[in-house]
Amino acid sequence: MHGIVKVFPGVRALDGVDLDVRAGEVHCLLGQNGAGKSTLIKVLAGAHQPDEGEIRWQGEQIRLTTPMAAMKNGIATIYQELDLVDGLTVAENIYLGHEMASAGFARRGETQKAAAALLSRLGHPEISPRREVGALSAAGKQIVSMARALSHDVKLIIMDEPSAVLDQEEVARLFKVIRDLTAEGVAVVYISHRLEEIRQIGDRVTVLKDGRTVATGLAARDTPTRELTRRMTGRDIEYVFPPRQSRDGDGSVVLAVRDLSAGKEFSGVDFEVRAGEIVGLAGLVGSGRSEILETIYGARKASSGSVSVDGRTLRNGSVRAAVGAGVGLCPEERKSQGLLLDEAIYRNVSLATIGRFARGGFLNRGDEKRAATEHIKSLDVRPADVERAVRTLSGGNQQKVVLARWLLRECRVLLLDEPTRGVDVGARSEIYALVRRLADEGVAVVLVSSEVPEVLGLADRVLVLRDGVVVHTGPADDIDEHRVLDLVMEGSAA
Ligand SMILES: Nc1ncnc2c1ncn2[C@@H]1O[C@H](COP(=O)(O)OP(=O)(O)OP(=O)(O)O)[C@@H](O)[C@H]1O
Ligand SMILES: [Mg+2]
Repeated sequence: MHGIVKVFPGVRALDGVDLDVRAGEVHCLLGQNGAGKSTLIKVLAGAHQPDEGEIRWQGEQIRLTTPMAAMKNGIATIYQELDLVDGLTVAENIYLGHEMASAGFARRGETQKAAAALLSRLGHPEISPRREVGALSAAGKQIVSMARALSHDVKLIIMDEPSAVLDQEEVARLFKVIRDLTAEGVAVVYISHRLEEIRQIGDRVTVLKDGRTVATGLAARDTPTRELTRRMTGRDIEYVFPPRQSRDGDGSVVLAVRDLSAGKEFSGVDFEVRAGEIVGLAGLVGSGRSEILETIYGARKASSGSVSVDGRTLRNGSVRAAVGAGVGLCPEERKSQGLLLDEAIYRNVSLATIGRFARGGFLNRGDEKRAATEHIKSLDVRPADVERAVRTLSGGNQQKVVLARWLLRECRVLLLDEPTRGVDVGARSEIYALVRRLADEGVAVVLVSSEVPEVLGLADRVLVLRDGVVVHTGPADDIDEHRVLDLVMEGSAA
Protein backbone atom coordinates (compact mmCIF):
# COMPACT_ATOMS: atom_id res chain seq x y z
CA MET A 1 0.00 0.00 0.00
CA HIS A 2 1.48 3.31 -0.98
CA GLY A 3 0.44 6.86 -0.17
CA ILE A 4 -3.01 5.82 1.01
CA VAL A 5 -5.30 8.73 1.88
CA LYS A 6 -8.79 8.38 3.33
CA VAL A 7 -10.88 11.37 4.25
CA PHE A 8 -14.07 11.26 6.32
CA PRO A 9 -16.16 14.39 6.87
CA GLY A 10 -13.98 16.50 9.14
CA VAL A 11 -11.15 13.96 9.56
CA ARG A 12 -8.21 12.93 7.44
CA ALA A 13 -8.17 9.41 8.87
CA LEU A 14 -5.30 8.32 6.60
CA ASP A 15 -2.87 10.90 5.36
CA GLY A 16 -0.47 9.07 3.09
CA VAL A 17 0.16 5.67 4.65
CA ASP A 18 2.72 3.17 3.34
CA LEU A 19 2.65 -0.49 4.27
CA ASP A 20 4.32 -3.49 2.71
CA VAL A 21 3.62 -7.01 3.86
CA ARG A 22 5.65 -10.10 2.90
CA ALA A 23 4.48 -13.65 2.43
CA GLY A 24 4.83 -15.71 5.60
CA GLU A 25 5.37 -12.81 7.98
CA VAL A 26 3.35 -11.44 10.86
CA HIS A 27 3.27 -7.73 10.30
CA CYS A 28 2.09 -5.80 13.33
CA LEU A 29 0.28 -2.53 13.09
CA LEU A 30 0.66 -0.29 16.11
CA GLY A 31 -0.83 3.07 16.95
CA GLN A 32 -2.93 4.91 19.49
CA ASN A 33 -6.71 4.85 19.48
CA GLY A 34 -7.79 6.74 16.39
CA ALA A 35 -4.42 6.52 14.63
CA GLY A 36 -6.04 4.97 11.55
CA LYS A 37 -5.27 1.24 11.90
CA SER A 38 -8.82 -0.03 11.34
CA THR A 39 -9.37 2.43 8.52
CA LEU A 40 -6.21 1.23 6.77
CA ILE A 41 -7.16 -2.40 6.97
CA LYS A 42 -10.68 -1.63 5.79
CA VAL A 43 -9.12 -0.13 2.70
CA LEU A 44 -7.09 -3.29 2.25
CA ALA A 45 -10.19 -5.41 2.82
CA GLY A 46 -12.16 -3.57 0.14
CA ALA A 47 -14.58 -2.12 2.68
CA HIS A 48 -13.42 1.50 2.20
CA GLN A 49 -12.29 3.12 -1.03
CA PRO A 50 -9.14 5.20 -0.64
CA ASP A 51 -9.20 8.80 -1.86
CA GLU A 52 -5.59 8.59 -3.00
CA GLY A 53 -2.80 6.06 -3.17
CA GLU A 54 -2.30 2.66 -4.71
CA ILE A 55 -2.40 -0.96 -3.66
CA ARG A 56 -0.09 -3.49 -5.29
CA TRP A 57 -0.88 -7.15 -4.77
CA GLN A 58 1.66 -9.74 -5.81
CA GLY A 59 3.35 -7.18 -8.05
CA GLU A 60 0.24 -5.87 -9.78
CA GLN A 61 -1.73 -2.76 -9.08
CA ILE A 62 -5.26 -3.69 -8.03
CA ARG A 63 -8.47 -1.98 -7.04
CA LEU A 64 -10.42 -3.60 -4.27
CA THR A 65 -13.86 -2.17 -4.83
CA THR A 66 -15.77 -4.54 -2.55
CA PRO A 67 -15.02 -6.92 0.33
CA MET A 68 -15.84 -9.73 -2.12
CA ALA A 69 -13.11 -8.51 -4.49
CA ALA A 70 -10.57 -8.63 -1.66
CA MET A 71 -11.79 -12.08 -0.64
CA LYS A 72 -11.39 -13.35 -4.21
CA ASN A 73 -7.77 -12.19 -4.16
CA GLY A 74 -7.19 -14.16 -0.98
CA ILE A 75 -7.42 -11.28 1.50
CA ALA A 76 -9.53 -12.15 4.55
CA THR A 77 -10.33 -9.92 7.48
CA ILE A 78 -11.32 -10.43 11.07
CA TYR A 79 -12.82 -7.14 12.12
CA GLN A 80 -12.59 -5.39 15.44
CA GLU A 81 -16.37 -5.12 15.53
CA LEU A 82 -17.24 -8.66 14.52
CA ASP A 83 -19.60 -8.83 11.58
CA LEU A 84 -21.37 -12.12 12.17
CA VAL A 85 -25.11 -12.67 11.87
CA ASP A 86 -26.42 -13.59 15.33
CA GLY A 87 -29.52 -15.37 14.07
CA LEU A 88 -27.62 -17.80 11.82
CA THR A 89 -25.76 -20.92 12.89
CA VAL A 90 -22.01 -21.19 13.19
CA ALA A 91 -21.75 -23.14 9.91
CA GLU A 92 -24.04 -20.72 8.08
CA ASN A 93 -21.91 -17.81 9.19
CA ILE A 94 -18.68 -19.47 8.16
CA TYR A 95 -19.98 -20.28 4.69
CA LEU A 96 -22.01 -17.13 4.17
CA GLY A 97 -21.53 -16.04 0.57
CA HIS A 98 -19.77 -19.25 -0.48
CA GLU A 99 -21.13 -21.07 -3.49
CA MET A 100 -21.15 -24.28 -1.52
CA ALA A 101 -23.66 -22.77 0.90
CA SER A 102 -25.91 -21.16 -1.68
CA ALA A 103 -26.48 -24.56 -3.27
CA GLY A 104 -29.13 -25.05 -0.62
CA PHE A 105 -30.33 -27.55 1.90
CA ALA A 106 -28.74 -30.60 0.30
CA ARG A 107 -25.33 -29.14 1.01
CA ARG A 108 -25.99 -28.39 4.66
CA GLY A 109 -24.36 -31.58 5.88
CA GLU A 110 -21.31 -30.79 3.82
CA THR A 111 -20.90 -27.25 5.14
CA GLN A 112 -21.40 -28.47 8.69
CA LYS A 113 -18.69 -31.06 8.29
CA ALA A 114 -16.32 -28.55 6.73
CA ALA A 115 -17.11 -26.05 9.48
CA ALA A 116 -16.42 -28.65 12.16
CA ALA A 117 -13.05 -29.39 10.56
CA LEU A 118 -12.11 -25.70 10.55
CA LEU A 119 -13.15 -25.27 14.17
CA SER A 120 -11.03 -28.26 15.19
CA ARG A 121 -8.08 -26.86 13.28
CA LEU A 122 -8.50 -23.71 15.36
CA GLY A 123 -8.41 -25.78 18.53
CA HIS A 124 -12.12 -25.43 19.27
CA PRO A 125 -13.84 -28.70 18.43
CA GLU A 126 -16.36 -27.98 21.19
CA ILE A 127 -18.09 -25.26 19.16
CA SER A 128 -20.97 -26.92 17.35
CA PRO A 129 -21.54 -25.86 13.73
CA ARG A 130 -25.29 -26.05 14.45
CA ARG A 131 -25.18 -23.59 17.32
CA GLU A 132 -26.67 -20.14 16.81
CA VAL A 133 -23.90 -17.56 16.73
CA GLY A 134 -25.84 -15.15 18.93
CA ALA A 135 -25.53 -17.65 21.79
CA LEU A 136 -21.73 -17.70 21.71
CA SER A 137 -19.42 -15.66 23.92
CA ALA A 138 -17.35 -12.86 22.42
CA ALA A 139 -14.39 -15.25 22.28
CA GLY A 140 -16.50 -17.90 20.53
CA LYS A 141 -17.62 -15.39 17.93
CA GLN A 142 -14.02 -14.48 17.32
CA ILE A 143 -13.18 -18.11 16.60
CA VAL A 144 -16.08 -18.37 14.15
CA SER A 145 -14.85 -15.25 12.42
CA MET A 146 -11.40 -16.86 12.14
CA ALA A 147 -12.92 -20.03 10.74
CA ARG A 148 -14.75 -17.98 8.14
CA ALA A 149 -11.48 -16.35 7.06
CA LEU A 150 -9.85 -19.77 6.75
CA SER A 151 -12.78 -21.13 4.75
CA HIS A 152 -11.41 -19.16 1.81
CA ASP A 153 -8.14 -19.80 0.12
CA VAL A 154 -6.28 -17.05 1.94
CA LYS A 155 -2.90 -15.50 1.25
CA LEU A 156 -3.28 -12.63 3.70
CA ILE A 157 -5.27 -12.56 6.91
CA ILE A 158 -5.90 -9.27 8.63
CA MET A 159 -6.69 -9.43 12.34
CA ASP A 160 -7.93 -6.29 14.04
CA GLU A 161 -7.37 -6.75 17.77
CA PRO A 162 -8.23 -10.44 17.84
CA SER A 163 -6.85 -10.89 21.33
CA ALA A 164 -9.06 -8.21 22.85
CA VAL A 165 -11.77 -10.78 23.60
CA LEU A 166 -9.50 -13.73 24.39
CA ASP A 167 -7.84 -14.89 27.60
CA GLN A 168 -4.21 -15.96 27.82
CA GLU A 169 -4.86 -19.58 26.99
CA GLU A 170 -6.95 -18.70 23.96
CA VAL A 171 -4.34 -16.22 22.79
CA ALA A 172 -1.77 -19.01 22.94
CA ARG A 173 -4.06 -21.15 20.76
CA LEU A 174 -4.53 -18.29 18.32
CA PHE A 175 -0.76 -17.85 18.10
CA LYS A 176 -0.35 -21.49 17.23
CA VAL A 177 -2.83 -21.08 14.38
CA ILE A 178 -0.95 -17.98 13.22
CA ARG A 179 2.36 -19.86 13.27
CA ASP A 180 0.88 -22.71 11.24
CA LEU A 181 -0.48 -20.25 8.70
CA THR A 182 2.74 -18.30 8.28
CA ALA A 183 4.66 -21.56 7.92
CA GLU A 184 2.47 -22.20 4.87
CA GLY A 185 3.42 -18.79 3.49
CA VAL A 186 0.27 -16.91 4.51
CA ALA A 187 0.89 -13.30 5.52
CA VAL A 188 -0.75 -11.92 8.63
CA VAL A 189 -1.43 -8.29 9.53
CA TYR A 190 -1.89 -8.20 13.27
CA ILE A 191 -3.26 -5.29 15.28
CA SER A 192 -3.03 -5.19 19.05
CA HIS A 193 -2.51 -2.73 21.86
CA ARG A 194 -0.61 -5.33 23.88
CA LEU A 195 3.06 -4.88 23.21
CA GLU A 196 4.08 -8.17 24.78
CA GLU A 197 2.01 -9.96 22.11
CA ILE A 198 3.79 -8.08 19.37
CA ARG A 199 7.04 -9.44 20.78
CA GLN A 200 5.75 -12.99 20.89
CA ILE A 201 4.15 -13.27 17.48
CA GLY A 202 5.38 -10.35 15.36
CA ASP A 203 8.12 -10.22 12.76
CA ARG A 204 8.01 -6.60 11.66
CA VAL A 205 6.17 -3.56 12.97
CA THR A 206 4.64 -0.52 11.31
CA VAL A 207 3.60 2.35 13.55
CA LEU A 208 0.81 4.75 12.60
CA LYS A 209 0.29 8.13 14.18
CA ASP A 210 -2.43 10.58 13.19
CA GLY A 211 -3.01 8.79 9.90
CA ARG A 212 0.64 8.63 8.88
CA THR A 213 3.28 5.94 8.84
CA VAL A 214 5.85 7.11 11.39
CA ALA A 215 7.96 3.96 11.38
CA THR A 216 7.98 0.80 9.34
CA GLY A 217 9.95 -2.42 9.17
CA LEU A 218 10.95 -2.30 12.85
CA ALA A 219 11.99 -5.66 14.25
CA ALA A 220 9.15 -6.82 16.50
CA ARG A 221 11.39 -8.67 18.93
CA ASP A 222 14.26 -6.26 19.29
CA THR A 223 12.74 -2.80 19.24
CA PRO A 224 12.67 -1.47 22.81
CA THR A 225 9.21 -0.82 24.24
CA ARG A 226 10.19 2.75 24.99
CA GLU A 227 10.89 3.33 21.35
CA LEU A 228 7.60 1.80 20.24
CA THR A 229 5.52 3.84 22.66
CA ARG A 230 7.47 6.98 21.84
CA ARG A 231 6.79 6.48 18.14
CA MET A 232 3.12 5.87 18.81
CA THR A 233 2.51 8.76 21.15
CA GLY A 234 5.31 11.16 20.42
CA ARG A 235 6.20 11.17 24.12
CA ASP A 236 7.68 8.92 26.75
CA ILE A 237 5.03 6.88 28.49
CA GLU A 238 5.67 5.61 31.96
CA TYR A 239 3.42 2.62 32.22
CA VAL A 240 2.68 3.15 35.87
CA PHE A 241 -0.13 2.26 38.15
CA PRO A 242 -1.32 4.84 40.64
CA PRO A 243 -0.17 4.35 44.23
CA ARG A 244 -2.34 2.00 46.23
CA GLN A 245 -4.93 2.93 48.76
CA SER A 246 -3.57 5.34 51.31
CA ARG A 247 -6.06 4.59 54.08
CA ASP A 248 -4.90 1.03 54.37
CA GLY A 249 -8.28 -0.67 54.41
CA ASP A 250 -9.78 1.30 57.28
CA GLY A 251 -12.86 2.27 55.27
CA SER A 252 -16.14 0.68 56.27
CA VAL A 253 -17.33 -2.41 54.43
CA VAL A 254 -19.47 -1.29 51.49
CA LEU A 255 -19.97 -4.49 49.53
CA ALA A 256 -20.28 -7.87 51.24
CA VAL A 257 -20.60 -11.00 49.14
CA ARG A 258 -21.46 -13.99 51.32
CA ASP A 259 -21.08 -17.58 50.21
CA LEU A 260 -22.52 -16.66 46.82
CA SER A 261 -23.26 -19.38 44.28
CA ALA A 262 -24.99 -19.38 40.90
CA GLY A 263 -25.75 -22.77 39.41
CA LYS A 264 -22.74 -24.25 37.71
CA GLU A 265 -21.10 -20.87 37.10
CA PHE A 266 -19.47 -20.35 40.49
CA SER A 267 -19.90 -21.39 44.08
CA GLY A 268 -19.10 -20.33 47.62
CA VAL A 269 -17.67 -16.96 46.66
CA ASP A 270 -17.12 -14.88 49.77
CA PHE A 271 -15.46 -11.47 49.98
CA GLU A 272 -15.97 -7.90 51.02
CA VAL A 273 -14.89 -4.59 49.60
CA ARG A 274 -14.31 -1.57 51.78
CA ALA A 275 -14.79 2.04 50.82
CA GLY A 276 -11.71 3.12 48.92
CA GLU A 277 -10.64 -0.40 48.08
CA ILE A 278 -10.12 -2.01 44.68
CA VAL A 279 -10.54 -5.78 44.64
CA GLY A 280 -9.36 -7.59 41.51
CA LEU A 281 -10.69 -10.89 40.19
CA ALA A 282 -8.18 -12.90 38.16
CA GLY A 283 -8.94 -16.10 36.26
CA LEU A 284 -9.47 -17.51 32.81
CA VAL A 285 -12.46 -16.72 30.63
CA GLY A 286 -15.10 -19.14 31.90
CA SER A 287 -13.78 -19.15 35.46
CA GLY A 288 -16.88 -17.27 36.58
CA ARG A 289 -15.46 -13.77 36.87
CA SER A 290 -18.03 -11.96 34.76
CA GLU A 291 -20.85 -14.10 36.16
CA ILE A 292 -19.95 -13.01 39.69
CA LEU A 293 -20.20 -9.36 38.66
CA GLU A 294 -23.52 -10.00 36.93
CA THR A 295 -24.90 -11.72 40.01
CA ILE A 296 -23.86 -8.91 42.31
CA TYR A 297 -25.57 -6.55 39.87
CA GLY A 298 -28.75 -8.65 40.01
CA ALA A 299 -28.69 -9.46 36.30
CA ARG A 300 -28.27 -13.12 37.22
CA LYS A 301 -30.02 -14.96 40.04
CA ALA A 302 -27.93 -16.43 42.83
CA SER A 303 -28.78 -20.01 43.75
CA SER A 304 -27.58 -19.41 47.30
CA GLY A 305 -25.75 -16.83 49.37
CA SER A 306 -26.26 -13.09 49.59
CA VAL A 307 -24.99 -9.70 48.50
CA SER A 308 -25.27 -6.65 50.70
CA VAL A 309 -24.38 -3.00 50.21
CA ASP A 310 -23.80 -0.81 53.26
CA GLY A 311 -25.18 -3.57 55.46
CA ARG A 312 -28.45 -3.96 53.56
CA THR A 313 -29.06 -7.25 51.80
CA LEU A 314 -30.06 -6.84 48.16
CA ARG A 315 -33.02 -8.65 46.70
CA ASN A 316 -31.76 -11.64 44.74
CA GLY A 317 -31.85 -11.20 40.97
CA SER A 318 -33.03 -7.61 40.99
CA VAL A 319 -31.03 -5.08 38.97
CA ARG A 320 -33.38 -2.42 40.30
CA ALA A 321 -32.43 -3.20 43.87
CA ALA A 322 -28.72 -3.19 43.03
CA VAL A 323 -28.88 0.07 41.11
CA GLY A 324 -31.00 1.58 43.88
CA ALA A 325 -28.28 0.70 46.38
CA GLY A 326 -25.67 2.39 44.19
CA VAL A 327 -24.19 -0.55 42.30
CA GLY A 328 -22.92 0.13 38.77
CA LEU A 329 -21.71 -2.45 36.25
CA CYS A 330 -19.53 -1.59 33.29
CA PRO A 331 -20.03 -4.77 31.28
CA GLU A 332 -17.55 -6.77 29.27
CA GLU A 333 -19.32 -6.66 25.93
CA ARG A 334 -19.73 -2.96 25.91
CA LYS A 335 -20.61 -2.58 22.26
CA SER A 336 -23.61 -4.84 22.40
CA GLN A 337 -24.69 -3.26 25.66
CA GLY A 338 -26.24 -0.14 24.41
CA LEU A 339 -24.07 2.35 22.61
CA LEU A 340 -26.38 4.48 20.50
CA LEU A 341 -24.06 4.65 17.51
CA ASP A 342 -25.85 7.44 15.65
CA GLU A 343 -26.24 9.64 18.71
CA ALA A 344 -23.76 12.24 19.93
CA ILE A 345 -21.08 11.31 22.43
CA TYR A 346 -22.62 13.37 25.22
CA ARG A 347 -25.98 11.62 24.86
CA ASN A 348 -24.29 8.28 25.18
CA VAL A 349 -22.30 9.35 28.20
CA SER A 350 -25.29 10.75 30.07
CA LEU A 351 -27.61 7.88 29.21
CA ALA A 352 -27.37 6.22 32.60
CA THR A 353 -27.61 9.46 34.50
CA ILE A 354 -30.36 11.24 32.61
CA GLY A 355 -32.31 11.92 35.82
CA ARG A 356 -29.61 14.23 37.10
CA PHE A 357 -29.92 16.57 34.19
CA ALA A 358 -33.69 16.75 34.09
CA ARG A 359 -35.39 19.48 36.05
CA GLY A 360 -39.16 19.87 36.01
CA GLY A 361 -39.37 17.55 33.04
CA PHE A 362 -36.86 19.44 30.92
CA LEU A 363 -33.45 18.13 30.11
CA ASN A 364 -30.71 20.58 30.86
CA ARG A 365 -28.54 20.10 27.79
CA GLY A 366 -25.90 22.51 29.05
CA ASP A 367 -25.24 20.53 32.24
CA GLU A 368 -25.45 17.27 30.37
CA LYS A 369 -22.80 18.38 27.90
CA ARG A 370 -20.57 19.92 30.52
CA ALA A 371 -20.47 16.76 32.61
CA ALA A 372 -19.87 14.61 29.56
CA THR A 373 -17.11 16.90 28.30
CA GLU A 374 -15.29 16.66 31.60
CA HIS A 375 -15.23 12.87 31.49
CA ILE A 376 -14.40 12.70 27.82
CA LYS A 377 -11.39 14.89 28.50
CA SER A 378 -10.23 12.93 31.51
CA LEU A 379 -10.37 9.70 29.48
CA ASP A 380 -8.66 11.34 26.51
CA VAL A 381 -11.38 10.44 24.01
CA ARG A 382 -10.34 11.69 20.57
CA PRO A 383 -11.61 13.79 19.00
CA ALA A 384 -12.82 15.42 22.24
CA ASP A 385 -15.95 16.76 20.57
CA VAL A 386 -19.05 15.69 22.48
CA GLU A 387 -21.33 16.51 19.54
CA ARG A 388 -19.85 13.83 17.31
CA ALA A 389 -21.77 10.68 16.53
CA VAL A 390 -20.28 7.69 18.33
CA ARG A 391 -20.24 5.71 15.09
CA THR A 392 -17.45 7.88 13.73
CA LEU A 393 -15.10 7.14 16.63
CA SER A 394 -12.38 4.50 16.52
CA GLY A 395 -12.96 1.26 18.43
CA GLY A 396 -10.92 2.21 21.47
CA ASN A 397 -12.52 5.61 21.69
CA GLN A 398 -16.00 4.06 21.61
CA GLN A 399 -14.98 1.94 24.58
CA LYS A 400 -13.89 5.00 26.47
CA VAL A 401 -17.32 6.55 25.87
CA VAL A 402 -19.07 3.63 27.55
CA LEU A 403 -16.61 3.72 30.39
CA ALA A 404 -17.22 7.45 30.82
CA ARG A 405 -20.92 6.71 31.12
CA TRP A 406 -20.37 4.47 34.12
CA LEU A 407 -17.83 6.70 35.76
CA LEU A 408 -20.28 9.58 35.61
CA ARG A 409 -22.90 7.64 37.53
CA GLU A 410 -21.39 8.20 40.94
CA CYS A 411 -21.80 4.70 42.31
CA ARG A 412 -21.18 3.32 45.80
CA VAL A 413 -19.97 0.08 44.24
CA LEU A 414 -18.43 0.02 40.79
CA LEU A 415 -18.07 -3.31 38.98
CA LEU A 416 -15.63 -3.03 36.07
CA ASP A 417 -15.35 -5.87 33.56
CA GLU A 418 -12.26 -5.50 31.35
CA PRO A 419 -12.12 -1.70 31.56
CA THR A 420 -9.07 -1.24 29.30
CA ARG A 421 -9.90 -3.70 26.56
CA GLY A 422 -8.93 -2.16 23.23
CA VAL A 423 -7.59 0.97 24.89
CA ASP A 424 -4.11 2.17 23.91
CA VAL A 425 -1.13 2.41 26.25
CA GLY A 426 -1.40 6.15 26.66
CA ALA A 427 -5.06 6.17 27.65
CA ARG A 428 -4.72 3.17 29.94
CA SER A 429 -2.81 5.14 32.52
CA GLU A 430 -5.61 7.71 32.47
CA ILE A 431 -8.17 5.01 33.18
CA TYR A 432 -6.09 3.55 35.99
CA ALA A 433 -5.71 6.96 37.57
CA LEU A 434 -9.42 7.62 37.25
CA VAL A 435 -10.44 4.32 38.83
CA ARG A 436 -8.05 4.95 41.70
CA ARG A 437 -9.42 8.44 42.14
CA LEU A 438 -12.95 7.08 42.38
CA ALA A 439 -11.77 4.62 45.01
CA ASP A 440 -10.05 7.39 46.94
CA GLU A 441 -13.37 9.22 46.93
CA GLY A 442 -14.85 6.24 48.76
CA VAL A 443 -16.20 3.99 46.01
CA ALA A 444 -15.78 0.23 46.44
CA VAL A 445 -14.40 -1.14 43.17
CA VAL A 446 -14.40 -4.70 41.85
CA LEU A 447 -12.17 -5.17 38.81
CA VAL A 448 -12.13 -8.07 36.35
CA SER A 449 -9.34 -8.23 33.81
CA SER A 450 -7.74 -10.90 31.65
CA GLU A 451 -4.47 -9.04 31.95
CA VAL A 452 -2.90 -10.25 35.14
CA PRO A 453 -0.44 -7.34 35.43
CA GLU A 454 -3.40 -4.99 35.33
CA VAL A 455 -5.15 -6.78 38.20
CA LEU A 456 -1.95 -6.89 40.24
CA GLY A 457 -1.02 -3.31 39.44
CA LEU A 458 -4.34 -1.67 40.09
CA ALA A 459 -6.05 -3.73 42.78
CA ASP A 460 -5.35 -3.63 46.51
CA ARG A 461 -6.52 -7.17 47.03
CA VAL A 462 -6.77 -10.05 44.58
CA LEU A 463 -9.07 -13.06 44.32
CA VAL A 464 -7.90 -15.80 41.98
CA LEU A 465 -10.68 -17.94 40.48
CA ARG A 466 -10.58 -21.28 38.88
CA ASP A 467 -13.66 -23.09 37.60
CA GLY A 468 -15.95 -20.89 39.63
CA VAL A 469 -14.13 -21.33 42.93
CA VAL A 470 -11.87 -18.82 44.69
CA VAL A 471 -8.49 -20.53 45.04
CA HIS A 472 -6.58 -17.63 46.53
CA THR A 473 -7.30 -14.35 48.32
CA GLY A 474 -4.71 -11.86 49.47
CA PRO A 475 -3.01 -8.49 49.06
CA ALA A 476 -1.94 -7.76 45.49
CA ASP A 477 1.54 -6.97 46.78
CA ASP A 478 2.08 -10.51 48.02
CA ILE A 479 1.61 -12.33 44.74
CA ASP A 480 3.25 -12.14 41.32
CA GLU A 481 2.08 -12.90 37.80
CA HIS A 482 3.64 -16.36 37.61
CA ARG A 483 2.00 -17.43 40.82
CA VAL A 484 -1.39 -16.19 39.61
CA LEU A 485 -1.00 -18.10 36.35
CA ASP A 486 -0.01 -21.24 38.24
CA LEU A 487 -3.08 -20.94 40.42
CA VAL A 488 -5.32 -20.24 37.46
CA MET A 489 -4.08 -23.30 35.61
CA GLU A 490 -3.53 -25.78 38.42
CA GLY A 491 -5.74 -24.39 41.12
CA SER A 492 -3.50 -25.96 43.72
CA ALA A 493 -0.93 -24.34 45.95
CA ALA A 494 2.52 -25.24 44.71
N1 LIG B 1 -16.98 6.20 9.35
C1 LIG B 1 -16.26 7.20 9.85
N2 LIG B 1 -16.69 8.48 9.78
C2 LIG B 1 -15.96 9.49 10.28
N3 LIG B 1 -14.78 9.35 10.90
C3 LIG B 1 -14.30 8.11 11.01
C4 LIG B 1 -15.01 6.96 10.51
N4 LIG B 1 -14.27 5.85 10.77
C5 LIG B 1 -13.16 6.28 11.41
N5 LIG B 1 -13.18 7.63 11.56
C6 LIG B 1 -12.11 8.45 12.19
O1 LIG B 1 -10.88 8.08 11.59
C7 LIG B 1 -9.84 8.09 12.55
C8 LIG B 1 -9.13 6.74 12.55
O2 LIG B 1 -9.98 5.75 13.10
P1 LIG B 1 -9.61 4.21 13.16
O3 LIG B 1 -10.86 3.48 13.52
O4 LIG B 1 -8.93 3.83 11.90
O5 LIG B 1 -8.58 4.18 14.37
P2 LIG B 1 -7.78 2.92 15.01
O6 LIG B 1 -6.34 3.21 14.83
O7 LIG B 1 -8.31 1.66 14.49
O8 LIG B 1 -8.11 3.10 16.57
P3 LIG B 1 -8.47 2.00 17.73
O9 LIG B 1 -7.17 1.57 18.31
O10 LIG B 1 -9.24 2.81 18.73
O11 LIG B 1 -9.29 0.92 17.13
C9 LIG B 1 -10.48 8.46 13.88
O12 LIG B 1 -10.29 9.84 14.09
C10 LIG B 1 -11.95 8.16 13.66
O13 LIG B 1 -12.74 8.98 14.47
MG1 LIG C 1 -9.41 0.09 15.36
